[in-house]
Parts: sequence; structure tokens; C-alpha cells
Amino acid sequence: MAAPGPSAPVGPDYKVENPQATVSTSVKYDNVHVLPQTPQLIALLTMIRDKSTTRGDFIFYSNRIIRLLVEEGLNHLPCVEHSVITPTGASYAGVKFEGKICGVSIMRAGEAMEQGLRDCCRSVRIGKILIQRDEETCKPKLFYDKLPEDIADRYVLLLDPMFATGGSAMMAVEVLIGRGVPEDRILFLNLIASPEGIAAFAEKYNKVRVVTAFIDKGLDAKSYIIPGLGDFGDRFYCI
Ligand code: PRP
Ligand code: URA
Repeated sequence: MAAPGPSAPVGPDYKVENPQATVSTSVKYDNVHVLPQTPQLIALLTMIRDKSTTRGDFIFYSNRIIRLLVEEGLNHLPCVEHSVITPTGASYAGVKFEGKICGVSIMRAGEAMEQGLRDCCRSVRIGKILIQRDEETCKPKLFYDKLPEDIADRYVLLLDPMFATGGSAMMAVEVLIGRGVPEDRILFLNLIASPEGIAAFAEKYNKVRVVTAFIDKGLDAKSYIIPGLGDFGDRFYCI
């Protein structure tokens, strides 16, 4: 790339060659949607993957990605036609959301995504499921759930930033199904997934939609996502 000189264009004419970056692995499942791999998204992910990023920056940039995920997730909910009259007196043929929604976070890390949902959906009800991976076996363990009474009548946005083996997400979906939520009303929002987790999940629940920002290369011996970002909950809440 040529160094910008005094006569280099600025503003809309400013152009650089596209820098190279690793983008998400693609997968073949119809129910899995990966956010468009835009320079913005890749730059945000680069910030939160960097081990030298401070906790404040980690929170700030994670929140920006969460916002993108929530906005895209909402596109997967049904709309009905809805016309309005504008102040000019003309009519506009638009749409409005149909149906009730709620969020459900998989604690602890999933709680980090609640504010992003609240920022987009005013007064949204939020339930919680406490699932923790066993540090030795990496198997999920269910400790607690507290969900809206009428959850079976709602679309559920399930929130968890990390999708490694998929065990925690699958356990959370079992809890929701046990409360009467149909699979096709569950939408799982996630920042970074592994191909193994996606495959296990999509083969078991092909009607649950997954919206993720990135599918990484794989898992390490401790079932951490590689390259990943480490322990999301620790980086968001503790270190
Ligand atoms: C992390 C993460 C997911 C889970 C993913 O939570 O937030 O819930 O691991 O791994 P899996 O796909 O292999 O199940 P963890 O249990 O470490 O708890 P935390 O939220 O308190 O960090
Ligand atoms: N939980 C995390 O926070 N990160 C991983 O890579 C796997 C599980």
C-alpha cells in the first residue's frame, strides 16, 4: 500500500487494499447463521481475542459484537405487514414484529449478553439457567433455572458467548423444551463457536436457529476453543 502523501485522497475516495485476516469457517447446516465477516466485525473480534486487551476494552468490544448478534437475531423472528401514515399524510407499507419474546442467559458468561438484548428490546423478560462445565471432564452440570412462567408462548433468545463442545447449549435447550418451548422458537446467540460444537448441536437440534459471529478452527485438549479468546466469563467479569 502506498504511503498517503499530501495529494492522497481522503473521505469517500480514500481506498486501501483489503488487509488479510482469518475469517469464519463455513458450515453446511441450514439452521446455523454466521454474521457477515465484515472488516468491522473482524476488527472487534481481533480486539477481544487479543490476550493483552484490558478488561474495560474487552467489555466494550464484546458489547459491540453482542449488539450485532442481537440485531441479526431479531431478523430471524416473524414479522407481519403493518402500514402507517407518516406526518406527510402518505402511507408506508411496513412490518412489525409478531409474537412475544424473552431472553434466557446461560450463567455466568451468558449474562454478559443481557444488556445488549435489553438495549434492543425494551422491557424484555429475561430468564436464567445456571450451567457450569466441570473443569476436569468439561461436561456441563445444571444447577438452577428460573424462567418466565409463560415461556412456552414466547420466542426465546438463548444467550451464551462461547460454544465449545456444545454441551452447555444442548443442556439449556433441553431445559427449554422441558418447559414446552418448541425447538423452532429457540434462537441461540453466540460469539465464538467450534465446528465440533456446531456439528453436535445442529445434528441434534436442526430446528433451533444458531446465530454466531464466528466459527473457529477447533478445540484444544481441555475443550477450549482455538484460537478462541480464553475464558470469556473470567475476562468479562474478573481479570
Ligand atoms: C463456558 C461458556 C459456555 C460453556 C461452553 O461457561 O460460557 O457456557 O463454557 O462450553 P461447552 O460448549 O463445552 O459446554 P463455563 O461453564 O466455563 O462457566 P462461566 O460462564 O461461569 O464461565
Ligand atoms: N468457555 C470459555 O469461556 N471459553 C472456551 O474456549 C470454552 C469454554
